[in-house]
Amino acid sequence: ATTLGAQAAQSGRYFGTAVAAGKLGDATYSTILNREFNAVTPENEMKWDTIERSRGSFNFGPADQIVGQATSHGQRVRGHTLVWHSQLPSWVSSITDANTLRGVMNNHITTTVNHYKGKVFAWDVVNEAFADGGSGQHRPSVFQNVLGNGFIEEAFRTARAADQSAKLCYNDYNIENWSDAKTQGVYRMVRDFKTRGVPIDCVGFQAHFGTSGPPASFQTTLANFAALGVDVQITELDIAQAPTTAYANTVKACMNVSRCTGITVWGIRDSDSWRAGENPLLFDRGGNKKPAYQSVLTALAPS
Ligand code: G3I
Repeated sequence: ATTLGAQAAQSGRYFGTAVAAGKLGDATYSTILNREFNAVTPENEMKWDTIERSRGSFNFGPADQIVGQATSHGQRVRGHTLVWHSQLPSWVSSITDANTLRGVMNNHITTTVNHYKGKVFAWDVVNEAFADGGSGQHRPSVFQNVLGNGFIEEAFRTARAADQSAKLCYNDYNIENWSDAKTQGVYRMVRDFKTRGVPIDCVGFQAHFGTSGPPASFQTTLANFAALGVDVQITELDIAQAPTTAYANTVKACMNVSRCTGITVWGIRDSDSWRAGENPLLFDRGGNKKPAYQSVLTALAPS
C-alpha cells in the first residue's frame, strides 16, 4: 500500500496522528491527515481544562469538530485523556475533600465517555500516573493525594460503567525500557488489575524518544504487557531528528507483537510538534515526506 494507514491496515493495525482542531482548516495539514492516517487522537481538545473548565459546564465543541471530521473520513478516534494531573483546572486541583473529588472525577468521566459513546474506540482513562525515577509508585497529584492509590481503579470502573464497548487504556511515557522501575510499577498494576477483574483493556506507550530511538528491550516490554492479556499501542510517537533506523525499529517492535494493535505519531509536520525544535516527525514543515516516512512505510509492510 502507498499510505501509512492503508499499509498498517493490511495487518489489522491502525496508523494515527495527534490532531489539533485549530489546524483542520490548513489545507496542507488536512490533505496529509486524510490521505495518510486512519486514526486520530485530539492533541489537547479532550483534556479536562478544555472539556470542563468550570465545574459542571461541559464544552465538547473543539473535540466534536475533530471527531466529526475523523468520522467523515473513516478514521478511528482515541480519546485522550480522562484523568491526568496536567492541563487540569485549578478548581479541581484545589479540592481537598475526598467525597467531593470522587464525585467530580466520576462525573467528568461519565459525562465525557457518554458523550462519545460509539465514537471513541479507546480511551486513555488515566494518563501519566506513575512517578519518574526509581520508586515504581504513583506520582503525587490531587487524585493520588486526596483519593489514594485506588483512584486509578475507580476511574477504570467508572469508565466501563459508562461504555461497555470502548477499550480502556492506561497511558504513560518512559515505560518502554523493560528494566526501568517505572515500567515495572505499571506492569505490576496491570497484572493486579487483570487478576482482580478491574476493567483494563490496553496500555499505551507514548514513545517520545531521543535520537537513538527505542530502548533495545522495547519489543520485550510490549510482549510482556501483552502476555498479561491487554492490547498494547504506541500512542504518541516522535523521535528527535527522526532517524530512519530509530523509526523503523519502533514500528518493527510493534509489528512483531500480535497484540500491538496500532501506532500514533504525535503530530503531522515538524512544525506541528510540541518539540518542533527537534524535527521529530514524518513530514517536514512544507508537508513533504521525510526519509523516516519511507522507513516507516516499509516497516509496516506485512511479512
Ligand atoms: O490554548 C492555549 C491558548 O489559548 C494560548 O493562547 C496559548 C499560549 O501559550 O496556549 C494554548 O495552550 C497550549 C496548548 O498546548 C494548546 O496549544 C498550552 O500552553 C500548551 O502547554 C499545550 O501543550 C500541550 C501539552 O501536551 C500540555 O501538557 C501540547 O500541545 C501537547 O502536544 C502535549 O501532549 C502531551 C500529551 O497530552 C501527554 N503526553 C505528553 C505529551 C507531550 O507533552
